[in-house]
Amino acid sequence: PAVDIALDPLEGTTLTAKDMPNALAVIAMGPRGSMLHAPDVYMDKLAIGPGYPTDLLSLDMSPTERIETLAEAKGSRPEGVMVCVLERPRHQDLIAEIRATGARIRLITDGDVAGVIHCAEAAKTGIDMYMGSGGAPEGVLAAAALKCMGGQMWGRLIFRNDDERARARKAGIEDQDRIYRRDDMVTRDVIFAATGVTDGSIVKGARRDGDWLETETILMRSKSGSVRRLLYRQHNQ
Ligand code: FBP
Repeated sequence: PAVDIALDPLEGTTLTAKDMPNALAVIAMGPRGSMLHAPDVYMDKLAIGPGYPTDLLSLDMSPTERIETLAEAKGSRPEGVMVCVLERPRHQDLIAEIRATGARIRLITDGDVAGVIHCAEAAKTGIDMYMGSGGAPEGVLAAAALKCMGGQMWGRLIFRNDDERARARKAGIEDQDRIYRRDDMVTRDVIFAATGVTDGSIVKGARRDGDWLETETILMRSKSGSVRRLLYRQHNQ
């Protein structure tokens, strides 16, 4: 069958170099034409887990409005909301505004695909919302994961110069200010797989066990909502 594939063979190169958590090898596959062909630019991202009204939040809301709205929907106060953000100088004002609301912050040094996935398992991870900018291709991968796990996501491409705008036009993107919902980025059923490179909260990292090499993969289908965990062992001859 004709397919679209989005992949990042190493999502978290720096995490891997420093042996820090949540570096993943990630792939998503769906029918041809079903995934946003994201240029290599930044994307402003916002994500929450399942169980909330559709379009509860929007990228046009301020961070404060997003937190207050989510807190109300959760039946709590901003102090009861945990937001995950990439720790970057460009997020300094965002982080200050989140702190001013009273919400809690989980700063990550890299790996926003995992950051977004954490929202889908809020009871386990404690993370209710993901906010901030990161790679656009990673945004599409995260949307594919949330389509399998449940949860909402919004993304808007960020262009820093004409070269980036030209890259988007080449990728077939005409409306450069468009806000993409999860299902605009991944329009049909998708299969998503992530294999751990370093240990993390989603899967264990690749490791040696005597003469064996082991990896753990999470494999999900949006059509059935199925989640499989695969342990792969190969003898190291
Ligand atoms: P790489 O593995 O390609 O380095 O990506 C890691 C990552 O943290 C992504 O998860 C994220 O989308 C992007 O980098 C953020 O970009 P930047 O490091 O420029 O802020």
